[in-house]
Amino acid sequence: MEKEIFEQPDSIRRAIRGRLKEGKIKIPSIEKIYPDRILIIGCGTSYHAGLLGKYYFEDISGIPTEVETASEFNYRSVPKEENVLAIFISQSGETADTITSLLKCRDLGYDLFTITNSVCSTLAREAGKGIYQYAGKEVSVASTKTFTSQATILLMMACYFGKAEADYISKIPELIKEVLEGNEIDDLVDSLPSRAMYASGPSLQTLEEVIFLGRQSMYPVALEASLKLKEVSYINSQAYPSGEIKHGPLALITEDTPVILFAAQNNLEKKNSSTSSEVSLRGGEVVIVRKSNQQITGKKFAEVVMPDCNDYVAPILSVIFFQLFALRVAIRKHQFENINIDKPRNLAKSVTVE
Ligand code: AGP
Repeated sequence: MEKEIFEQPDSIRRAIRGRLKEGKIKIPSIEKIYPDRILIIGCGTSYHAGLLGKYYFEDISGIPTEVETASEFNYRSVPKEENVLAIFISQSGETADTITSLLKCRDLGYDLFTITNSVCSTLAREAGKGIYQYAGKEVSVASTKTFTSQATILLMMACYFGKAEADYISKIPELIKEVLEGNEIDDLVDSLPSRAMYASGPSLQTLEEVIFLGRQSMYPVALEASLKLKEVSYINSQAYPSGEIKHGPLALITEDTPVILFAAQNNLEKKNSSTSSEVSLRGGEVVIVRKSNQQITGKKFAEVVMPDCNDYVAPILSVIFFQLFALRVAIRKHQFENINIDKPRNLAKSVTVE
């Protein structure tokens, strides 16, 4: 997992290579597609990438977009519609639920399109049209580099459909390198001494739960950060849209539950500041994830600061910090046990049964 996290500058470079020329996106497989509506389907991490894709498609290209987990889509009635582009996201290209969704969308007469890391996989073959991620083989069960390359490809597609300037995408690999070279996450993990963080053995008090919050493009980031932590550290975590916490989850806030607030969004500084205050006023220890040029007011326990970047790139950088967080916490937690972080209990890399 660690190796794959650190490969991300290169995997993103390969996702972009040949597809971005003089600030414009050139992707032959999407030329001549002019959808009225987009439907994105995936599972787990690929579904989270799809949620970020919805934000990109609607914000950059103005195309109405829905996102659904394959396992839900497969068993409900879906009204027929004209000119729908169905995008299937899957690093393996072999996920049974997603393949079933593709067959259902074919019956509905939708245009089929796959984003996958596996050349010649079932989804790639059945869709006939798509984009390869070229992220390199991902061995760890917990997906990392394939999420960020899916997100980058969705961003490029949104720029293509929206005829938007895309030069900033070429800077993503360097920005990721900067994030990976920093000490923010090691410092954060070290700064949680009240929970012992497994520093001297498993018998010490343990970190039992982490809450992740995010608005808009940062909500999929919160979901993905939470999934990573669960998968590799077996620590319970929840993710909520920031505005929802006052509708119930605030009851969970105690001084023993770190609350990670993804807030690297220029246009939402005020809203993110008020979420931070809502949590800290109830005794919660808030960790703010922000850009270097931003101010999020209110009492905070710690900050994770990323380089200044375009708002569409910030979710990608935010996720990388918390891939590392999940890994570092898992290493500490499992240090006296014989647990392979790359192969978490009960999970398989590719889920080929429904
Ligand atoms: C991610 O860390 C998980 N291993 C899992 O959620 C995975 O993303 C999901 O099973 C979908 O796999 P796919 O991308 O190969 O279709």
